[in-house]
Amino acid sequence: MKLLSALTLLLVVGVISAEKMRFDHHKVYKIDVRSEEQMEALRELEETPNGEYYFWDSPRVGRSVDVVVPPQKLYEFGGIMKHFSMDHELKIENFQTLIDAETPAIQPRAFGWTAYNNYTEIYDWMDVLLETYPTILTGHIVGTTYQDRPIRAVKLSYKEGNPTIFIESNIHAREWITSATATWFLNELLTSTDPDIQDLAQNIDWYIIPVFNVDGFHYTHTTNRLWRKTRQNHATVCFGTDGNRNFDFQWMVNNGASTNPCSETFAGPVPFSEPETVALRDFLEPLGSKINMYLSFHSQGQYVLFPYGHSYETTEYHDLLTEVGNAGAEGFAKYNNTIYRVGPTSSTLYIASGTSVDWAFNEFNIPLAYTFEFIGLGYGFVLPPEHILRNCYETRDAIIAMVARSRQLGFMSPRT
Ligand SMILES: *[C@@H]1O[C@H](CO)[C@@H](O)[C@H](O)[C@H]1NC(C)=O
Ligand SMILES: *[C@@H]1O[C@H](CO)[C@@H](O)[C@H](O)[C@H]1NC(C)=O
Ligand SMILES: [Zn+2]
Repeated sequence: MKLLSALTLLLVVGVISAEKMRFDHHKVYKIDVRSEEQMEALRELEETPNGEYYFWDSPRVGRSVDVVVPPQKLYEFGGIMKHFSMDHELKIENFQTLIDAETPAIQPRAFGWTAYNNYTEIYDWMDVLLETYPTILTGHIVGTTYQDRPIRAVKLSYKEGNPTIFIESNIHAREWITSATATWFLNELLTSTDPDIQDLAQNIDWYIIPVFNVDGFHYTHTTNRLWRKTRQNHATVCFGTDGNRNFDFQWMVNNGASTNPCSETFAGPVPFSEPETVALRDFLEPLGSKINMYLSFHSQGQYVLFPYGHSYETTEYHDLLTEVGNAGAEGFAKYNNTIYRVGPTSSTLYIASGTSVDWAFNEFNIPLAYTFEFIGLGYGFVLPPEHILRNCYETRDAIIAMVARSRQLGFMSPRT
C-alpha cells in the first residue's frame, strides 16, 4: 500500500515536472488576413488539437496575425500559404534564441526588473514588502486557482477617504511584461521620492494583483513559454480557458470568443467556469462600487482600450473614456515617443466578449475601465528583459497622466 502510493506520487510528480518545451528553429511569420476564407483556414490551424502552431492573436480579416511555426510543420505551412494566397513575412528565424536570451544566466538572483521573475519569487518579494510596510500595505488572498495556488493581491493605502484604482495583471499567462510592470509600479509607489508618484501613493488606494492566472504563469515558466489560458481541463484533449473571455457579461456574444476548447480564446463551457474568474468576481463584489479606475495589464500591441469589446455600440462614458485614454497615450509617449492607439476594444482591436474590464465596468458602474496592451517590439510575448524598465517608465507616465485628467474631469474622488 505504502509502496503503491509512493509509486503513484512518483508518477504524478513525473507528469507535473514534464520537460520544458523548446522552440529550436521554430519560425515566426506575420500573415496578412485579407478574406473570410483565409481567416477560416487560419482558425482551423489555430484550433488543431495540440497542433503545435502558436498564434499570438486571433486571426481577423483586415489585420495581421503572428504565428510560431515548428520546423516539422514548415512544409504544411508553406502549402497553406500558397493555397490561400496569403501574404506572409518571416519575422523571427529561431524562436528559441529569444527564449534563451530571456533566461537569466545567474540563478538564484536578487529580485528586480532586469530579468523576469516567477510567481514564487514575486510572492516572496510581496511577503518582504508586507513586513516592511505594515501600516501601508495589506495582503489579500483573492482566491485559489484550479491547481490550488493562492491568487494574491496587495492593497496600498496611506489614509482613509481616498479614491481607488484596481490593477489586474497577467490574466494571460505568457504576457510576462505585465507582472513585471505591476510589481515595479507597486515598488515605485512605496519607494519613489518623485512628487508625482508620492501624490499617487498617498492620495489613492491601490489594489494590485501582480499575477492573476497563477497556474498558467507557472506553466509558462516550467513547461510552455507560450501558454495563454488557465490550466483546467473541460474533458477534452485541450486544456485551459481564456480567463479574459470567461466573465459573465455578454459572454460569447458576437463570436467574441471561441466555443472550441482548443482555441486560444476558448470562453469556457459556461461563464465563470474557472475558479480564478469566480475568485475575482467574489473579491470584487464588496469592493467594486468603490473603484474609480480599473486597469487590466496585457501585451502586446500598444493600445489603451476601453468598453465595449463585444459590440461596436458605444457606452455612456465614451467621451470620458476617450479623453482619459488619450491622456494615457500621451503619457505612454512621454519617455520614448511610444505610440499607443486609444479606443473601444471592439473597433480599435477586435471583438472580444466576456472580458474582465467589460464585466467590471458594467457590474460596478466603474466609469474608467481600461485594458493596456503593452509593447512587444516585434518580439511578441517574449519581450527581451532589457526592455522591461522602459515599459515600466512608460506605464508610470501613462497612469500619472490618466489620474491627472480624471481629477480635472471630476472622476477621481471617492465614490459613495
Ligand atoms: C522560481 O525561481 C527560483 C530561482 O530564482 C527557483 O529557485 C524556484 O524554484 C522557482 N519557482 C518555481 C515555482 O518554479
Ligand atoms: C526608444 O525607441 C527606439 C526605437 O523607436 C529604440 O531604438 C530605443 O532603444 C528606445 N529607447 C529606450 C531607452 O528604450
Ligand atoms: Zn492578454
